[in-house]
Amino acid sequence: MTEGTQRPLRVGVLGCANIAWRKMLPAMTASPDVAVVAIASRGRERAEQFTARFGGDPVVGYQKLLERDDVEAVYVPLPAGMHGEWALAALAAGKHVLLEKPAVLTRDEAERIVRLATERGLLVQESFMFVHHGQHAAVAKAVADGEIGEVRAFTAEFGIPPLPAGDIRTIPELGGGALNDVGVYPIRAARLFLGDDLTVVGAVLHHDEELGIDVAGSALLRTPGGVTAQLGFGMAHGYRAMYALWGSAGRLELHRTFTPPDSWQPVLRLERQDHVQQRTLPADQQFPNIVAAFVRSVRSGDDSATHGRSLLRQAELLDAVRAAAGRA
Ligand SMILES: NC(=O)c1ccc[n+]([C@@H]2O[C@H](COP(=O)([O-])OP(=O)(O)OC[C@H]3O[C@@H](n4cnc5c(N)ncnc54)[C@H](OP(=O)(O)O)[C@@H]3O)[C@@H](O)[C@H]2O)c1
Repeated sequence: MTEGTQRPLRVGVLGCANIAWRKMLPAMTASPDVAVVAIASRGRERAEQFTARFGGDPVVGYQKLLERDDVEAVYVPLPAGMHGEWALAALAAGKHVLLEKPAVLTRDEAERIVRLATERGLLVQESFMFVHHGQHAAVAKAVADGEIGEVRAFTAEFGIPPLPAGDIRTIPELGGGALNDVGVYPIRAARLFLGDDLTVVGAVLHHDEELGIDVAGSALLRTPGGVTAQLGFGMAHGYRAMYALWGSAGRLELHRTFTPPDSWQPVLRLERQDHVQQRTLPADQQFPNIVAAFVRSVRSGDDSATHGRSLLRQAELLDAVRAAAGRA
């Protein structure tokens, strides 16, 4: 632990994913609070490639890794459509779970996972790194300080260019599609600033008949008090990741909100009636931050219910967007 009083959390990884290679495993192996003890793949070669760089034992087969007594927690960066099955298997094996976004695709799946985690006294946390970047606390403070007055509306957009054929995000059976892969970010951001009492008023999902997935979408949500959240997302777009809060006295806008590089110094743009101000915020590292937060939550046990509720609410809103778009 950071306090130097506890041994590192012993973590196993299910799947030699790109995100694990580029971001999460470098953050985990740099942390004194984590020991990567095993990395599982469907194939030996890939597992060995990962353990050669990050350490731990190469394991062939995800279930084999779950059977190990020396693994306390698992990181699951499998394709979205496999998250439910493997989160349940990991919990059944007594492991805490850091589950890549979208943690699950439906409320039913979320309920099964949260029920099992609660019964077993284990943590299951959806791995939304962006929430752990300090820039959002700076925005929240500006809003709390009244810099834009009373919040009237929230806007968020996340779009990425078309993906190569064969990418997991383009395959319906693996949980592909724009809502599951990128739409989940604006939804999570709306919850961050407007709270969980949001309802979906309307939604559109653009379905690509050839691929069999949605490639773009928009949704309108609202709070009971009438504050709106207008969300746009897609995987057939020029890159864009932003949100804005519009209030009675001004507007705040922030870009590169969901995938800021470690060295990126965010620029908070504040528009008021008679002037525009740009504030440069400190760079931050959201991957090391989420690793530290996960270890803290496992150790304390204090946040398990909060993470469970968050996972359920996120899945409920995904269901509601699909239903409003006529694709439930
Ligand atoms: N939080 C973030 O910032 C962030 C960023 C990017 C992605 N993600 C999420 O992380 C997860 C993985 O994304 P990724 O881009 O890293 O994916 P990826 O490189 O395609 O990795 C997925 C892994 O899943 C395993 N797998 C098992 N069955 C598979 C199948 N039928 N087809 C393909 N792979 C299969 C493979 O590992 P083995 O071959 O080793 O078994 C593969 O390496 C997704 O849920 C994605 O949404 C999160």
